Amino acid sequence: MIALNKKAFITLGLTSLVVFGAVASMPQEQEKKMNLKVLPKKFTHQQVETVMRQWTKALGVRCNFCHERGNEAADTKPEKLMARKMFEMTAKINKKYFEAGKDSLGMVMNTGISCITCHHGTAHPEGGTHTEGGEKK
Ligand code: HEC
Ligand code: HEC
Repeated sequence: MIALNKKAFITLGLTSLVVFGAVASMPQEQEKKMNLKVLPKKFTHQQVETVMRQWTKALGVRCNFCHERGNEAADTKPEKLMARKMFEMTAKINKKYFEAGKDSLGMVMNTGISCITCHHGTAHPEGGTHTEGGEKK
C-alpha cells in the first residue's frame, strides 16, 4: 500500500516536471512551424494548447484521442481528421446562422455554437429519442 502511494507520488512529481519543462520551453516552440490547416496559422503554441484543452473538455477525452503520443503534428489518427471537419462545420454554422465575426487572429468566434453544444463531454453525441424509442436490438 505504502509502496504504491510512493510510486504514485513519484509519477506525479515527474509529471509536473514534464509540464514545467513544456511551459519553460514554449518560447522556442513558437518559432517552429506547426501543421495547422484549420486553426489560424498565426496561432502560437500556447494559443493552440488553449483550444486543445477546450476540445478535450468538450469531448471528455484526452489528448491521445486525436494525437499520437509525442507527435501532435502527425495527421495519422482519424479522430484528428474528424476534429478538423468538425471545426470547419462549427465555424460555418457560426458564420452563416449566428453572424459570428472573426477575432483579431482570424478565428471565427463561438458566438452561436461550439463543440460542447453538441458533445456535452462525450465523443459520441449521436442518438436521441428517435433511435432510442424503446426498441430492442
Ligand atoms: C478532438 C481531437 C483533438 C484533441 C482531443 C486534441 N487535439 Fe491537438 N490537434 C487536433 C487537431 C485537429 C489539430 C490540428 C489543427 C489544425 O489543423 O489547424 C491539433 C493540433 C495540435 C498541436 C499542433 C501540433 C503541430 O505542431 O502541428 C498541438 C501541440 C496539439 N494539438 C496538442 C494537443 C494537446 C496537448 C491536447 C490535449 C490537451 C490535444 N492536442 C488534444 C485535434 C485534437
Ligand atoms: C452540430 C453538432 C456538433 C458540433 C458543433 C460538433 N460536433 Fe463533433 N460530432 C458530432 C456528432 C453527431 C458526432 C458523431 C458522428 C458519428 O459518430 O458518426 C461527432 C463526432 C466527432 C468526432 C469523432 C469521434 C470519434 O469517436 O471518432 C470528433 C473527433 C469530434 N466530433 C470533434 C468535434 C470538435 C473538436 C468540435 C468543435 C470544433 C465538434 N466536434 C463540434 C456533432 C457535433
